[in-house]
Parts: sequence; C-alpha cells; structure tokens
Amino acid sequence: MVIGSGLLGRKVAQASREHFDTAVTYNKNQVDIDGCQAYQMDITKDIELLEALSPRYIILTAAMTNVDQCEIDRAAAWQANALGPQRVATAAKRIGAKLIHVSTDYVFDGQRGMYKEPDPVCPINYYGASKLAGEAGVRGVLPDSLIARTSVLYGWNPVRLNFVTWAISELRRGNRINIVTDQFTSATLADNLSTMLLALRDEAGIFHTAGAERISRYDLALKIARTFDLDESLINPITSEQLQWKARRPKDSSLDIGKVSEFAEPLNVDRGLELMLRQEVMQ
Ligand SMILES: NC(=O)c1ccc[n+]([C@@H]2O[C@H](COP(=O)([O-])OP(=O)(O)OC[C@H]3O[C@@H](n4cnc5c(N)ncnc54)[C@H](OP(=O)(O)O)[C@@H]3O)[C@@H](O)[C@H]2O)c1
Repeated sequence: MVIGSGLLGRKVAQASREHFDTAVTYNKNQVDIDGCQAYQMDITKDIELLEALSPRYIILTAAMTNVDQCEIDRAAAWQANALGPQRVATAAKRIGAKLIHVSTDYVFDGQRGMYKEPDPVCPINYYGASKLAGEAGVRGVLPDSLIARTSVLYGWNPVRLNFVTWAISELRRGNRINIVTDQFTSATLADNLSTMLLALRDEAGIFHTAGAERISRYDLALKIARTFDLDESLINPITSEQLQWKARRPKDSSLDIGKVSEFAEPLNVDRGLELMLRQEVMQ
C-alpha cells in the first residue's frame, strides 16, 4: 500500500503494481492510477483504512512538502510530518505491516554535504525539523521500519510541477529563469527512487536513497537545457541571498549513496534526465 500520490507516491504505485496488489491513497487531490485501488485518507485524522486493508507493506510518501508553507503553518506541518507518520507506524505495528517511511536530506544543516546515514542531524528549517520528528516517531514505535531519506525529487507528474518540469516548461516558453549557484543537493529521479524503495522493502534502519551526484541547482538547470535542447543562455545564475525565502535552505544537503548502492543503482542526473526525455518521446 502506498500512502500519498504526489510525484513519488504515483511512481511507487506504478512500480509496485507490477509485483503486488497495490492500493494508493490521496488526501485532497483525487487520483486515478491504472491497476491500483485509490482511497481517500488523511494521515492526520482517520487512518482506520490501514487496518481494514491490512497490507503487508506500507510505503509512506505523504507529507507537507512545501518548505516555506511549513515555516508559516507550523501546526499543520507538525501534524502531517511528525504526528501523522507516528500514527501510521502505530497502525502498521498493530497489523504487522512493514513500514517504509520517506524522509529528507533537510534533516541536515548543509554545512558539509555528502552526508552518510550515521552523521549528526541538525535541521535549519521547520520542514526539516518536522520530518526529523517523524523519523523519530516512526523508529520509536517500529524499530525495524525503514527510513529512506531523499533529495530534490524530479520526474514527469501530470498534476504538479517540480524543479525539472518547471525549468523545462519555462525554457520552452522562452522565459528567463533565475537559478541559485550556491545550493547543492543529490537530485533524485522519482522513478529511480521507487526502484530503490521496492528493493529495500525488507531492510530496516536509515538509508540515503538519492541520485548518484552532488549538483548545484544551477548546474542541474544547465543539464536540463542541454538534455532537452533548450536555450541555456536563458538561465541566469544568482545566489540564494538574492531570494526571499521564508525558510532557510541547507547550502549542501547532498547525500552519500554508498549504503543503498548494495541493493539498487542510484542514477546520476544525466541518466535521470535522459530517461525523462525517452519517456516524453514515447508518450
Ligand atoms: N519533493 C522533494 O523535492 C523532496 C525532497 C526530499 C524529500 N521528499 C520527501 O519525499 C516524499 C514524497 O514527496 P513528493 O514530492 O512526492 O510530495 P508531493 O508531490 O508534494 O505529494 C505529497 C503527497 O502527500 C499527500 N498528503 C499531504 N498531506 C497529507 C495528509 N495529511 N494525509 C494524507 N496525505 C497527505 C498529498 O495528497 P493530496 O495531494 O491528495 O492532498 C500528496 O499526495 C515526502 O515525504 C517528502 O517529504 C521530497
């Protein structure tokens, strides 16, 4: 069962249905994913559905993911990212399900980068703090659950833009885009993360499940332009000081993917973008 049907939830459901009967949940935005039963469920309220369906595996992708909104509405962020996962873990324990919980590189302060799983955490914004509390809540209830930390997700999503699809659409329209040169992550193709999560489903503990490359937003934008044959002169380099974000961002939250590489192959950005290009051509 996949909780959440945003960018990642949709991809995980599509990958999972090849091997398992797969149910998927949405909260406010109803979804229709071929081959998967879809149910409405709000993890901050009523999660009786979990006991009714009693799945063997639960992959929890649902979260309040808007980093600035989490800073503004802290109570909602705490409910969705901290208490919600703990409630799901409690239900998973009752029904004997394996829980795979998706977390974030924003649990780190970004002073160093290329973080390994045992490295000390220190979130610098409320999104990161609420997600870290979610990790702790899940592990407290279910020590053999799996926590999969990821970083800047991208991929085709018919419903909402992400950094890569936003950049493609702006550049295709000939619009100039301002992109920061001083923020580094391990951008992750959501399809690739889905493969990693399914490969790890019987493992326990924390895994860094991200793309295989530390890259700045600016270099990522350049690679997008080159892969999709777009005008890279429209990409204007700026620094994060020039942006008015509500929430602070870690400078370098890139993740070391050595541990997960024993189970699945994380893709670098070139391979991730090429896959997206092929998917678009095949549509
Ligand atoms: N996106 C990134 O760059 C990124 C980076 C690092 C980590 N992550 C983590 O990766 C996971 C997946 O991210 P994503 O990009 O797929 O997110 P997304 O596209 O924003 O989707 C979030 C999903 O969570 C659901 N949701 C939100 N609040 C809910 C609630 N109270 N109850 C039930 N469902 C709720 C939403 O449902 P509705 O739309 O139906 O309301 C939506 O399906 C999250 O745990 C996120 O923290 C993401």
